[in-house]
Amino acid sequence: MSNKTITFKILRQDGPNHPSYWETFVIPYLPNSNVISCLMDIQKNPINSEGKKVRPVVWDCNCLEEVCGTCTMVINGKTRQSCSALIDKLMQPITLQPLSKFPVVRDLAVDRSRMFEALKRIKAWVPMDGYHDLGPGDKILPDHQGVAYKLSECMTCGCCVEACPQYSRDNNFVGAAAISQARLFNMHPTGKLIANERLDSLMDDGGIAACGNAQNCVEVCPKSIPLTESIAEMGRQSSKRFWKTLFQI
Ligand code: SF4
Ligand code: SF4
Ligand code: FES
Repeated sequence: MSNKTITFKILRQDGPNHPSYWETFVIPYLPNSNVISCLMDIQKNPINSEGKKVRPVVWDCNCLEEVCGTCTMVINGKTRQSCSALIDKLMQPITLQPLSKFPVVRDLAVDRSRMFEALKRIKAWVPMDGYHDLGPGDKILPDHQGVAYKLSECMTCGCCVEACPQYSRDNNFVGAAAISQARLFNMHPTGKLIANERLDSLMDDGGIAACGNAQNCVEVCPKSIPLTESIAEMGRQSSKRFWKTLFQI
């Protein structure tokens, strides 16, 4: 084995509302490692750089292939998925911090419930009135499918809201991901049956008007979802709804 090592500086927290502190770990280098595989090595042998045995580091992960979004954290100052963060491409020491826009559960694990509540708020689903056979659905043109498929790749990872200057712990902005999901479900032939309910929700406090159009979200989305296009489209739909309601058209 070579003498090469990997150094991590991890922002830790023993539980919700506990103070945070930095802890350094130095582990042997293994080729083709990623941040999660290194965290697993630290978990097996949780000894910090001062040689002290400490509580194993806590983080979330699931799919390990950048699909579920749960492993998102701030790595060397950039919000991204830790399962796809290759060590050979990162400057050392590698800093790991939890997402700052959500309450910390422990260490790098955060509670992203607010994002799922936002999806409930904008009714990110297709309404069903039962499970009986409704016959074939409407035909969807390939162009439309292409747009919808891209939007459907959102994994609620939180990168967009982490980068957004308007999304903070003391406001109720729904964020770019939820706005984009409202666009997706308003495009769906059955989903559009409750399009106006989604628009009303987006026109409410913390809705689309809270977006300052800084466009940070689109820069950091790991799925390259056209978030600013979605925000512009939902802005158009909301304005149309506003004027229609005002004049009772
Ligand atoms: S829109 Fe992109 S950055 Fe935002 S939650 Fe979805 S996948 Fe993540
Ligand atoms: S455009 Fe800017 S303000 Fe609006 S959601 Fe994206 S990052 Fe936030
Ligand atoms: S573990 Fe699912 S995206 Fe990283």
